[in-house]
Amino acid sequence: MALLQDASLLQTLLVVVGALTLLRPLLSLLLTLHSLFLARGISLRRFSSQAPRALITGASDGIGAEFARQLAAKGFEVTLVGRSKAKLQGVAEEIARASPSAKIELLILDFSDASHAGWEHLSASISSGTPIGVLVNNVGVSHAMPVPFATSDAKENESIIAVNVAALVRVTHMVLPGMQARKSGLILNLGSFAGQFATPLLSTYSASKSFLLTFSKCLGAEQANARTGVRVTCLNTYFVVSAMSGIRRSNWLVPTPKSYVKTVLAKIGTSGGAGWRPYSATLWPGHALADWAITNLLPSENWLLNYQYTSSLDVRRRALRKAERQAKAQ
Ligand SMILES: NC(=O)c1ccc[n+]([C@@H]2O[C@H](COP(=O)([O-])OP(=O)(O)OC[C@H]3O[C@@H](n4cnc5c(N)ncnc54)[C@H](OP(=O)(O)O)[C@@H]3O)[C@@H](O)[C@H]2O)c1
Repeated sequence: MALLQDASLLQTLLVVVGALTLLRPLLSLLLTLHSLFLARGISLRRFSSQAPRALITGASDGIGAEFARQLAAKGFEVTLVGRSKAKLQGVAEEIARASPSAKIELLILDFSDASHAGWEHLSASISSGTPIGVLVNNVGVSHAMPVPFATSDAKENESIIAVNVAALVRVTHMVLPGMQARKSGLILNLGSFAGQFATPLLSTYSASKSFLLTFSKCLGAEQANARTGVRVTCLNTYFVVSAMSGIRRSNWLVPTPKSYVKTVLAKIGTSGGAGWRPYSATLWPGHALADWAITNLLPSENWLLNYQYTSSLDVRRRALRKAERQAKAQ
């Protein structure tokens, strides 16, 4: 009798555990769909009312240039930071044509060089210019192509760490105190799927974006618990059309920078496909569904790691063949 009771208790427990195991991904999918298609983002005016300036790093191209264009169109004074004066001027001219009343500041700074003179100009601009309500930590560099770490270029690795990690920490440390003093601010960190899901053959880049993810969580929790009024979000991003991705055509999974940034700015404060992960947001719908599927449906982390390895190896082989063709053509 006691044995029968034990067996039915075990059965009930298994059913409950099974139901909960199935329920969690289902709830997470509902949360994702609600976040993507029903939830409304908070207004950027919350940040611009006291501090009407947005500072964007790596603003001369791709996603950063688009943040600059769209934040200027929303009435922010914009500070564009990048290493190429000519490219920054090009973006500034476009902004001036589209928003003639926009105030634009250009700062030339090579983020891979910790002693570059531009750091002093940046510091002076932050402390004496219009208060910064929005910081977009966008600048980022990756490997020229997937490569085994052992044979990777030491200078390339150093540059990735300098730009994606050291410069990001330095800029954030410069901007945050002012935001805290005004009890208002938004910090958007350009994260990558490669930071959330380890990507072999892009080891240094992938690890630098993992740093960003952890940094965003710690910073976000510090701000929320101390009620500083500063909101921190790591924008978990899959592919976007850009020089870095090398992808030229958009589709539902790979947006243009314009569509991507428009979606992000409309959905601040929502999580998209990041579900319950704190201080993270996967806001482009295609990326969000991919995030949900990878998080909830894959058999194991090790399976994903091996899959990522094979995919990276495939990209490497194609990149090497392309380089070979180009060398022959010259
Ligand atoms: N595109 C994607 O598929 C994708 C996916 C996930 C995450 N992300 C992240 O999104 C961010 C932007 O990427 P993106 O695709 O827009 O890249 P991108 O088109 O290559 O643009 C990168 C920007 O950073 C600037 N930059 C690079 N190194 C610099 C340095 N040492 N000093 C100053 N500026 C520097 C570039 O300036 P120059 O014009 O002088 O090169 C450019 O303005 C990165 O953090 C990236 O990791 C991108």
